[in-house]
Amino acid sequence: MRKSHHSVILLGFGNIGRELARLLDRKASILKDSYGITYSVTGIATARHGMAIDPEGIDVQTALTLVETGKSLDELSRFPIHSSLDFIHRSRGDVLFENSPVNHLTGQPALDHVRTALESGMHVCTANKGAVVYGYHELRRIANVKNRKFRFESTVMDGAPIFSLFRENLPALQLDAFKGVLNSTTNLILTRMESGDSFEDAVRFTQEIGLAETDPAADVDGWDAAIKVAALITVLMDTPFTPQQVQRKGIRKISQEMVCKAKEDGKRYKLVCSAKRLGESISAQVAPELVSASSVLYHVEGSTSIVEFETDVLGKLSIVETDPGPSTTAYGLLADFINVVIHP
Ligand SMILES: NC(=O)c1ccc[n+]([C@@H]2O[C@H](COP(=O)([O-])OP(=O)(O)OC[C@H]3O[C@@H](n4cnc5c(N)ncnc54)[C@H](OP(=O)(O)O)[C@@H]3O)[C@@H](O)[C@H]2O)c1
Repeated sequence: MRKSHHSVILLGFGNIGRELARLLDRKASILKDSYGITYSVTGIATARHGMAIDPEGIDVQTALTLVETGKSLDELSRFPIHSSLDFIHRSRGDVLFENSPVNHLTGQPALDHVRTALESGMHVCTANKGAVVYGYHELRRIANVKNRKFRFESTVMDGAPIFSLFRENLPALQLDAFKGVLNSTTNLILTRMESGDSFEDAVRFTQEIGLAETDPAADVDGWDAAIKVAALITVLMDTPFTPQQVQRKGIRKISQEMVCKAKEDGKRYKLVCSAKRLGESISAQVAPELVSASSVLYHVEGSTSIVEFETDVLGKLSIVETDPGPSTTAYGLLADFINVVIHP
């Protein structure tokens, strides 16, 4: 087994960045014993909790405590850092984990972060959909020129293998269409409404359990679902596609009465994501649909998500992910990291 040591830098140390730091620590022995991989975290950057670079390695537990008690990481740094791009340039890391918040309209600043890191000779693993949707083809080109890897398994359905499945295991297969429930928050809201919650109560519940943001618009208006559809089309259908090109309707107009009437009729409302090749073009939608029990989507409960692919040779192929959370997203990043460093 070839041994390799990697300095990793974490840009974004929120729910996902911190969960990843914990998972890397938890899996350190298996990384070393089964794959010959050792690592040290040499940089961590946030927006309001400071930034730190230490080429000797940062004590991750101290960094977690500082951020989780609202303090700054600056005290852990060997020198002052002026911006996120300055952080990337001066870190000299081998692998960047980019986990800053998604920007549905431009992909920034994640796009600049990923581009800068690849140009500086780093591998990049990200859960940020913005960089994929607004930069996939350009970033893949830069990665190829630099002989580095750009990976983003966690951007759609968290740790469930989708991009790696097509890349590694389904060569020469053409994806003709897909359909799914890709936004956990709206699915949980609709499931709660079936049990009697009003729309507002159901939204509040998803916020209380940490699934929805304080401003739930990205979920309930369909932006999160649309950017995931755009990411799947961009990568798996090899066609640049933005969330603005997805015909998008959210769930605000679905009332509790409509949900209950559907239930009486043996049907359920789902926020359905779909895309289809139509000759040279692709049509894509996100919209609430009434589905009956004969549909696989009908059986997707709570925060579970599903995608059903329609391919030219294998026919229909589905992936279901039950109750995802930050740890499943962190797992997708960990899997990307292992694959990137063992097959550089
Ligand atoms: N949460 C999930 O379940 C999930 C699932 C799949 C994918 N994702 C994706 O994963 C990414 C991270 O999500 P999250 O839930 O961890 O978000 P989060 O909790 O809001 O954390 C975002 C982190 O990025 C930092 N940040 C913001 N702007 C920055 C900038 N310009 N430069 C450097 N750091 C910056 C924030 O710093 P401060 O805290 O100091 O502001 C924070 O540390 C997002 O792109 C999201 O779409 C999340």
